[in-house]
Amino acid sequence: MKKWLALIMVCVLAFAIVGCSGDETATNSEGEGNASAENEQSSGDSNAQTEATDELPKIGVTIYKFDDNFMSFVRRSIETAAEGKAELILNDSQNNQATQNDQVDMMISKGVKSLAINLVDPQAAPTIIGKAQSENLPLIFFNKEPDQTAMQSYDKVWYVGTNSAESGIIQGELIAKMWADHPEWDRNGDGVMSYVMLKGEPGHPDAEARTKYSIDTVVEKGILVEELELQPGFWDSVKGKELMDAWISKHGDDIEMVIANNDGMALGAIQSLQAAGYFNDGKYMPVVGVDAIPDALSKIKDGSMLGTVLNDAKNQGQATLDLARNAALGKDPLEGTEWKLDDQKAVRVPYVAVTLDNIDFAEKSYE
Ligand code: GAL
Repeated sequence: MKKWLALIMVCVLAFAIVGCSGDETATNSEGEGNASAENEQSSGDSNAQTEATDELPKIGVTIYKFDDNFMSFVRRSIETAAEGKAELILNDSQNNQATQNDQVDMMISKGVKSLAINLVDPQAAPTIIGKAQSENLPLIFFNKEPDQTAMQSYDKVWYVGTNSAESGIIQGELIAKMWADHPEWDRNGDGVMSYVMLKGEPGHPDAEARTKYSIDTVVEKGILVEELELQPGFWDSVKGKELMDAWISKHGDDIEMVIANNDGMALGAIQSLQAAGYFNDGKYMPVVGVDAIPDALSKIKDGSMLGTVLNDAKNQGQATLDLARNAALGKDPLEGTEWKLDDQKAVRVPYVAVTLDNIDFAEKSYE
């Protein structure tokens, strides 16, 4: 009798343990585009999974919109870095700040231990900080940098991104060097570089800095410039194409240089230029972008894009996950990593100029 009783008690206990851990099964983010993208991670060894569950910190992540070329690579990098290291709740904020605010509330109610937020609107940082602070949750912003007033308002907020001005300066240096090497690009021979500028999203630190510093740098190198057009294409290739279509009909061959704040818009412009007969029979237009996404690298290889600036999605994603994970575990955000914080509480991943000469290096970074 006693043996039977003992056996029943063992069974009840085992059931209770499995039952408890079942609620917190290790999950990983593979989901796309919905409010809560949690998928169960499959594991052949249920014991291993139960053990891992206790160690995987839950991190709430938002991307300002999944439908952004460059951000899809950052997202992929965060997901890869999280494999076996963290459970992600991953959200597409669909370019809507109100949606993102609700997603943050939802993730907090699901018990995330830290937040990694790619803001829709950089001005909304105080709102998100307020939400994190009221729960004493660490918060990592990435890609869209909040201003310093917001960053200094909470001791548990950090930023992962780049130095926006650096991308503009590198792009400007690339343009200046190539322009000097190719006097034939000054089609009307007036000694002035007549350019059109595809700007990203107005108010976005990267868009503002790239627009300013690319041209400032070209001018500093002693090149005279004339701005034929400057309009926002919101990082989007379709908008880049539409703007370029309109500019070609308005200015025709007076355009001598196309400068885009990102590759997405540059690719749209190239499509438009191709339709207008460029990159054929010796008709050429220099086009430069930023990001070094794989589609742009192919265009550099086939000669329809002059160059770009590597925006290192892989390392920005990795750093975001590293900091968010450490912070979720209550550790120093840099513990066990090689990242460094500057005096603005930011990890800044460097940009690199990319032309045909170092295309292999850029390709490797997006592998
Ligand atoms: C920039 C990138 C753009 C766009 C933007 C979104 O850093 O160059 O292509 O992805 O971030 O915030």
